[in-house]
Amino acid sequence: MKLYHGDIVYSENRDKLNVFENSYIAIENGTVEGIYSSIPEKFTGAEVIDHGRGLIIPAFSDLHVHASQFIQRGIGMDLLLNDWLNTYTFPQESHFADPEYAEPIYDAYINDMIRNGTFHASIFTTIHRNTVNILYKKLEEKGLWALVGKVNMDFQSPAYLCETTDKSLRETEIFLEEHSSGERVKPILTPRFVPTCSRELLSGLGKLGKKYGVGVQTHVVESLWEAGEARRLFPDCNSDSQIYEKTGLLGNGPSIFAHFIFPTEDDFRVVKDYDCIAVHCPEATTNVIAGIMAVYHQQELGVNITLGSDIGAGVKNGIYRQCAAAVKLSKLKEFYEPEIGKTITISNAFYMATKAPGSVFGKIGAFEPGYLFNALVIDGVEDKNHPMTPEQRLERFCYAGDDRNITARYLAGNKLSCV
Ligand code: GUN
Ligand code: FE
Repeated sequence: MKLYHGDIVYSENRDKLNVFENSYIAIENGTVEGIYSSIPEKFTGAEVIDHGRGLIIPAFSDLHVHASQFIQRGIGMDLLLNDWLNTYTFPQESHFADPEYAEPIYDAYINDMIRNGTFHASIFTTIHRNTVNILYKKLEEKGLWALVGKVNMDFQSPAYLCETTDKSLRETEIFLEEHSSGERVKPILTPRFVPTCSRELLSGLGKLGKKYGVGVQTHVVESLWEAGEARRLFPDCNSDSQIYEKTGLLGNGPSIFAHFIFPTEDDFRVVKDYDCIAVHCPEATTNVIAGIMAVYHQQELGVNITLGSDIGAGVKNGIYRQCAAAVKLSKLKEFYEPEIGKTITISNAFYMATKAPGSVFGKIGAFEPGYLFNALVIDGVEDKNHPMTPEQRLERFCYAGDDRNITARYLAGNKLSCV
């Protein structure tokens, strides 16, 4: 049993932030036992780790990130999605056939995610199974939680980054078989998006999803161009989402839909029928997509929305940055489209960054009893002689903080060092 003292903050739901100032969180076997305003008698003699006025918050989850694009962050940001993919991203990703190219990039990505307090993530790599496994092994070694996908693309893709349908399915099945027993790191099917996947490939992946009980991550209604391509290529489907439904990819595990900016009625139907998780990537959206998700409106309609960095369309790790960006974008949405836009609160954004996505990985992302103590300590955001409330310090960290404000990291109760 250990007690951690500080200002303890976590989201109960999107409307409620629980704040325990100057309190103690009791941790037993890596999980939360309870939160107390003073040390209870039953814990007399237990070790106390004092973080003073540090904010103790749940570690973040990033439900949409391309680890393979860490090396290209901040490049080509004046292009829109299709041109950005063809000019920068596809040529860059083709180098991941080579382990000597891939390994240092994956190392740098993982170190940076830990530094920035992201301990759980749903990750795209590339089509190359040999180097996907480099990332996979490193995530396991660090003790992080992750869903990792070998990307599939067999259609309308450049020759240097295009698989045959057969090979794509075969390599994916080997990947699933190689990783059938993971506790924290698990495989997830990762068809890139409809424009680069044939119907045969998606149907084959749907069969693998059923056979192995594995979910799916992909990009859904992410731009008007992409949504248009989906309708053109699958005229028998009423929506982009229905393509995944019809090919058997939904309901086998978590279904994670990145962006989900331009949903139709039928997209909403599918997301509700299969409890799909939508991932809002506000920074990436402004960089290469240029559409703004109607976050509040979609939440009111029952969509479970989480946050993602979408590196390299997004440029930095640190989901706290996405919390601030989500609030900013929701304001623009309200300004330009008041009929569906409404400004969200920072605590709503924090919920989308912690508790909402954490449930994909287990009892993660909050501090209710039984939750894992995957936590960060945030300090140094106040100005001298200007003390702020815990809520204000959390907001300032999201807007103006960086990894230097994360003064301690805990993974299942164990202190984590980072490089
Ligand atoms: N759609 C298909 N591939 C990608 C990608 O790599 N990044 C983003 N943001 N969207 C995509
Ligand atoms: Fe993406």
